[in-house]
Amino acid sequence: MELSGRKVLLRVDLNSPIDKDGRILDSSRLKAHAPTIKELVERRNSVVLISHQGRPGDRDFVELQEHAQILSKYLDMNVEFVDDVMGPYAREKIKNMKEGEIILLNNVRMVSEELIEAPPQQHAKTFLVRKLSPLFDGYVNDAFATAHRSQPSLVGFPLVIPSAAGRVMEKEISALSKIFTPEESPKVFVLGGGKVLDTLRIIENLTKKRIADRILTGGLIAELFATAKGISLGKENMEVLEKLGILSLIPRARKLLMSGSPVEIPVDFKVEREGKTEESPVHKVNGVIKDIGTNTADIYSSFIKDSKVTVLRGPMGIIEDERFRDGSKSVMKAALENSGYVIVGGGHMVSVLEGKVEDTSKLHISTGGGALLLFLSGERLPALEALSLSKV
Ligand code: 3PG
Repeated sequence: MELSGRKVLLRVDLNSPIDKDGRILDSSRLKAHAPTIKELVERRNSVVLISHQGRPGDRDFVELQEHAQILSKYLDMNVEFVDDVMGPYAREKIKNMKEGEIILLNNVRMVSEELIEAPPQQHAKTFLVRKLSPLFDGYVNDAFATAHRSQPSLVGFPLVIPSAAGRVMEKEISALSKIFTPEESPKVFVLGGGKVLDTLRIIENLTKKRIADRILTGGLIAELFATAKGISLGKENMEVLEKLGILSLIPRARKLLMSGSPVEIPVDFKVEREGKTEESPVHKVNGVIKDIGTNTADIYSSFIKDSKVTVLRGPMGIIEDERFRDGSKSVMKAALENSGYVIVGGGHMVSVLEGKVEDTSKLHISTGGGALLLFLSGERLPALEALSLSKV
């Protein structure tokens, strides 16, 4: 796609873990997009960035001022934050942009249309696409980490304006396609984090296509599988699972277990009780589960030791609290010490790396979490499909 002296809409994924004060905990996704933005500016384009952050109702659903400040630092160029997405203020700002200028629109999920998953043809008719597309000469999608969502800012624009993949998207697809060949086995998946429904869908895919040799679980997905096995995790934890709607997923988890899915669950947990931390065996949990236990971390590490490809996605515990980072740190350490290839996905798990990686030749740090795993489990990513329909 010819891109110089144009006005470009660049879909990035700046969605980052947010701490309890509403501040960005890890900015690796922001850093990853800097080269794409820089290249577009160096080619004399003006660049409008559009991204989501969190989901409405969640604690990490915040505005993007801090994202603009951090991006300005990484780029050493001013990224102006515009407190609007598609209203007259944003459109006027975009119209008046000069060559080389960069603006970041506010959180696109403030627009209710962005929460709907539908085919590109439908999203091409949304207000978001109709209001913004006439202002641009081109659309670049660099948001690999959200490529598994079929939302307007990801799939609607390519049908209306000439579109292309950005550098992050390009790098991820080519690296993952190379690494993820059937000969490279055993493959061990270490899955945790909070997005239980997405993770369950991924485990279903991995099981059906027989891709994973072992699936080591932590976080809420481990609690789901333990409950599906008939283990009682105690009143407090059951209440959490119920409140989050996770108990309704038990039949799907049970079906997976009965069909021979290579899912492993923790033998113990680190729990919090009356403000103190304790280790609890899985059959005698007494307190709120916050991490996998020490025995589990050792067993998981021994499985990871012999793996040819280890994929780590989602932490094993509540890593925002220093007391519950050990489980995630142990599995990460085991993966990095092993001679096989390591793929780390999702903002939270990347923050466990804490920058201490000596040999990066056997490590791919993906910007993707759910998108990464869906891609690795052979699913088509709607945002990529939409790019292939690009208007020329
Ligand atoms: C992610 O972090 O996986 C992406 O930014 C997508 O976020 P979502 O799961 O809220 O759609």
